[in-house]
Amino acid sequence: MCGAGAGGIDDLGENNVKVDRLKVEGNKHLGSNLIYKLSKIIITYIGGTKIMFKLTDKVAVVTGGARGIGKGICETLAKQGAKVVIADLLLDEAVATASEIENAGGQAIAVKTDITDLESVQAMVSAVKEKFGLVDILVNNAGWDRMKPFVKTTPDFWNKVIDINYKGILNTIYAVAEDMMGQNSGKIINIASDAARVGSTGESVYSGTKGAVISFSKTMAREFARNKINVNVICPGPTPTPLLDDMKAEDAFADKVLSSMDKIIPLKRMGTADDIAAAVVFFASEEANFVTGQVLSVSGGLTMVD
Ligand SMILES: NC(=O)c1ccc[n+]([C@@H]2O[C@H](COP(=O)([O-])OP(=O)(O)OC[C@H]3O[C@@H](n4cnc5c(N)ncnc54)[C@H](O)[C@@H]3O)[C@@H](O)[C@H]2O)c1
Repeated sequence: MCGAGAGGIDDLGENNVKVDRLKVEGNKHLGSNLIYKLSKIIITYIGGTKIMFKLTDKVAVVTGGARGIGKGICETLAKQGAKVVIADLLLDEAVATASEIENAGGQAIAVKTDITDLESVQAMVSAVKEKFGLVDILVNNAGWDRMKPFVKTTPDFWNKVIDINYKGILNTIYAVAEDMMGQNSGKIINIASDAARVGSTGESVYSGTKGAVISFSKTMAREFARNKINVNVICPGPTPTPLLDDMKAEDAFADKVLSSMDKIIPLKRMGTADDIAAAVVFFASEEANFVTGQVLSVSGGLTMVD
């Protein structure tokens, strides 16, 4: 198990100590390696039936995984057997999430990361490679928004929304791309929004950034296809999270719109982090090897887009 319970990683120096400890612990268990591999095969194939969507020992980086939808994604990936890296600005919350995953029998570490800062992202990826060797799965989940009419927004607000929701994804993909191309494999799953597909009053700049995420993802899917790297997009519908709570608390219009969503959504409820996480697991799995450049809405039928 990794050392998330003992605290997160907020710089490379601390990480080096943890990596050494991991190697020592790993060496002690080399003798049981064969039994471990056999048990993985037995678990994967029971009674001749292959268990689908297993992510055993895949290394998955989830940005914004400390809370909200990202937390659900981390928990579900860990349940499928992945080693999860929670890359978030909120180190304490990321460490708490990693500890919960470890206490439930999964593997997770927390690495303080600011996705708007390429150097911070590159340091996170270096730490992950030192600890786990590679990145198999990248889930670009971190995001931010506030609901207000476009004419009430400011250039500072535009920059913040664009930096987190769009440039953040450029940074993370830039930081893992050459390694994934070299290993000739990888799954990249970008979390956009139905706001990008059909528009959303009060979310002008945000919906623009999420539209950019979709367009960028399709081009990346084409560029990376020769390297067997799949790039897909998930558009969550309204899902109660700390982000939605903050938006509702700060603006009466947001409160009114978001509080009535369960009546508008055809399946008559808001989303859950688990709903989104299930779609992430599919795109991350080998069962989705032939799926790339696609956009999937997980929104209870709120939008039905071809
Ligand atoms: N909640 C919804 O209804 C909804 C709907 C559609 C799309 N989404 C998208 O889902 C994703 C998750 O949203 P959520 O509702 O769980 O939000 P949230 O605010 O609850 O969680 C987002 C996480 O991202 C982290 N984060 C923010 N900026 C960061 C940065 N610069 N670097 C690293 N981490 C950063 C935050 O610390 C937080 O842990 C976002 O991309 C959001 O746009 C959410």
